[in-house]
Amino acid sequence: MAVDLLLGLQWGDEGKGKIVDVLTKNYDIIARFQGGPNAGHTLEFDGIKHVLHTIPSGIFHKNALNIVGNGVVIDPVIFKKELDNLNKFNLDLNAKLLISRKAHLILPTHRLLDAASEASKGKAKIGSTLKGIGPTYMDKTGRNGMRVGDLELDNWKDKYRALSDKHEAMIDFHNVDIQYDLNELETDFFDAVKELKQLTFIDSEEYLYQAQKSGKKILAEGAQGSLLDIDFGTYPYVTSSNTTAAGACTGLGVPPRNIGGVFGIFKAYTTRVGSGPFPTELFDEVGATMGRVGNEFGATTGRPRRCGWLDLVALKYAVQINGVSELMMMKADVLSGFKTIKVCTAYKYKGEKVSHLPYNIEAENVSPVYKEMKGWEKDLTKMTSADELPETLIEYINYLEAELEIPIKIVSVGPDRKQTIHR
Ligand code: IMP
Repeated sequence: MAVDLLLGLQWGDEGKGKIVDVLTKNYDIIARFQGGPNAGHTLEFDGIKHVLHTIPSGIFHKNALNIVGNGVVIDPVIFKKELDNLNKFNLDLNAKLLISRKAHLILPTHRLLDAASEASKGKAKIGSTLKGIGPTYMDKTGRNGMRVGDLELDNWKDKYRALSDKHEAMIDFHNVDIQYDLNELETDFFDAVKELKQLTFIDSEEYLYQAQKSGKKILAEGAQGSLLDIDFGTYPYVTSSNTTAAGACTGLGVPPRNIGGVFGIFKAYTTRVGSGPFPTELFDEVGATMGRVGNEFGATTGRPRRCGWLDLVALKYAVQINGVSELMMMKADVLSGFKTIKVCTAYKYKGEKVSHLPYNIEAENVSPVYKEMKGWEKDLTKMTSADELPETLIEYINYLEAELEIPIKIVSVGPDRKQTIHR
């Protein structure tokens, strides 16, 4: 039985949480494969908005199991807050939420190191969410990290202390002014670890192997977006994990030949939060309107997102890298009212027109070449079927499908579960 993947094709914040929630009824297991609490997956139904950071977005469905995979990094303190928020919904989390022993732990000093590293970079800072993601993955690849399974060892606190002491020396090395009270942070951390240990830890690769063998339907949930991938994103302005399809194989232990559908999510326009190049970024009233209407503020940090037109060059690249088989277009409703919609179809790169993503996409190297299309005036937010969509939006969809050579199966017209049109 194949494992389907769902991932973001832009710089994150495409609406993965909403679509995982919508699709969960078709699956037995939802498994998150990378990233950590830098993510903010927003779900809305029955008039309530939920933001999940580490817990998979299938958690609200009765029959689905949710797995936090080995590729994820977990901050027990943030995880505890997520659990506390979910407690009032009677979800039987002990039975429904399983955690990989091989997932790495974010220590309080990882967060401090993140802050010290960013401060030391000055203007060249990444614009990190400062959740300790980079330092935790550095310890993972440096073979120094602490994993969830370590918490089952008697001497885990010794391991913790050794790593934390080393981090303190590294924070000093950055020579920046970071104020912190480690005792206070550690009290919260140890409390949170106690709560984490109440949950079920599993050998998730074995669990998922057996689940595949017995024909269970599995959806792998990605975080961030392809352009933030550590290898294929706009390095160094990226996150520290593989957000692309291959990340699901290493982040869950799923063999490549068992991957089935690859569902790629993109917004009808583009946003980015944090630093780094963004060729179609708008600095005018149009960009400000997208931000206002689309409520484009980070779900984790509250930072305003930068907004711009859809970048087909970047989107084609993401479709290619991931082997996307189905597309889902989000936030079509946000563009309602624009007379003209622009799509970037190529870049001017060093004086030449290119239609692939070059190594360097900083503003001094590339400028976007646009195609203009007619916008749509109508409010889409109450529409429930594809026949209701305005003609000019259908032209936009048809154009994108032809360019990307993949069908757009879902058009989202608002944040609520119900505002989802299947085609
Ligand atoms: P970090 O992964 O928190 O260190 O952040 C690295 C870069 O990725 C920064 O530009 C962040 O703004 C961006 N980033 C990280 N997670 C997300 C996300 O879930 N959505 C959008 N951007 C993100």
